[in-house]
Amino acid sequence: MQEKAAHPLANIPEGKLESLNALQAQYRNDARSYKADLMCGVYQTREGDPYVLPSVKLARQMLFDDPEWEHEYPASHLGEAPFRELSARMLFGETSQMILENRIASMQTLGGSGACHMGARFLRMHYEPYKFNPRGKVYIPAETWVNHPNVFHAAGFETASVPYYNPSTHAFDFASFNESMTRIPSHSIVVLQVCGNNPTGCDPSAEEWQQLAQTFQAKQHFAFLDLSYPGFVTGSVARDCAPIRLLAETGIPLLLAATYGKAFGLYGERVGHLCFPLPTDQVAARVEQQMKLLAREETGAQPRFGARLVTNILENPHLRKVWEEDLKGLAQDLADRREALKTELLKHNALGDWGFVTSQAGMFL
Ligand SMILES: Cc1ncc(COP(=O)(O)O)c(C=O)c1O
Repeated sequence: MQEKAAHPLANIPEGKLESLNALQAQYRNDARSYKADLMCGVYQTREGDPYVLPSVKLARQMLFDDPEWEHEYPASHLGEAPFRELSARMLFGETSQMILENRIASMQTLGGSGACHMGARFLRMHYEPYKFNPRGKVYIPAETWVNHPNVFHAAGFETASVPYYNPSTHAFDFASFNESMTRIPSHSIVVLQVCGNNPTGCDPSAEEWQQLAQTFQAKQHFAFLDLSYPGFVTGSVARDCAPIRLLAETGIPLLLAATYGKAFGLYGERVGHLCFPLPTDQVAARVEQQMKLLAREETGAQPRFGARLVTNILENPHLRKVWEEDLKGLAQDLADRREALKTELLKHNALGDWGFVTSQAGMFL
């Protein structure tokens, strides 16, 4: 009998997931009833159950009741047009010149991971300064979403880490970060989260953003902005997104990789949005044409369900109000949970200064 040929994948190495995944598995297997999960970027009830926002329930019902709801491909590779329009208006401001002059190029993406991935691939293909310097690095804060370096490596970039968090003050280390921005080469691509920083819970203050805008402008850096937790800090998307407008209006070249997984609790529906504010509407049109080519070669069409829910909420004044209240409640609940945790730690005389539990914000500690 002829010997069976070895399968071509038979010797595949096991592959290692990040330590965070291992820690999460350890947590799941821990039988203690008083365990607390401070690791994951998912808002759940205090009992640890999934939470569906009331506004999302209403929007879902509206969609189910819509006799016109069909399951065609979206009309464009860029995704659902009303979603992109409403999202850009919310993120950049209704009266923004960038919106009024059609200077924002954008595409719908598979959540924030997809937005980061498409943004990284787009820059790898088109970012002029690195065409002359193909080994130009992407600078990533030392403390960030664990997947950021993977995303840029997969797109073919080298990365370098820059200081972000000061463990002795439990705060954003503005001086070190700003100093490193002045030291790295001009026109560098720098990753920054807009608000509710994962995993530190520390964002630059309004004054620090002002100074960073000046440094970025002087060095002509490109800001790769990750917006994952809008509304989680102040309860208001408009307020939490102020740094985006500041940088864009200062004229700093940037992209915005946003996920609505968190702010609408639509984690698994994969609702993301990649935006580039650009100098003219012609450049924006060309960027969108290139985005279509990119979408086509990557995943073709983008999922419609989650984008339709977000659209229903943003375009309907009543649902929008309900959602704004949902988000305020969520941010307040996170602040209350922080307060409760600090109180318990102090009550049990836990060693250490726990002030940072409430001076930081959002869902990460
Ligand atoms: C900072 C940051 N960026 C991106 C993502 C990815 O978002 P998504 O789950 O929508 O892909 C996350 C998810 O936790 C995140 O925390």
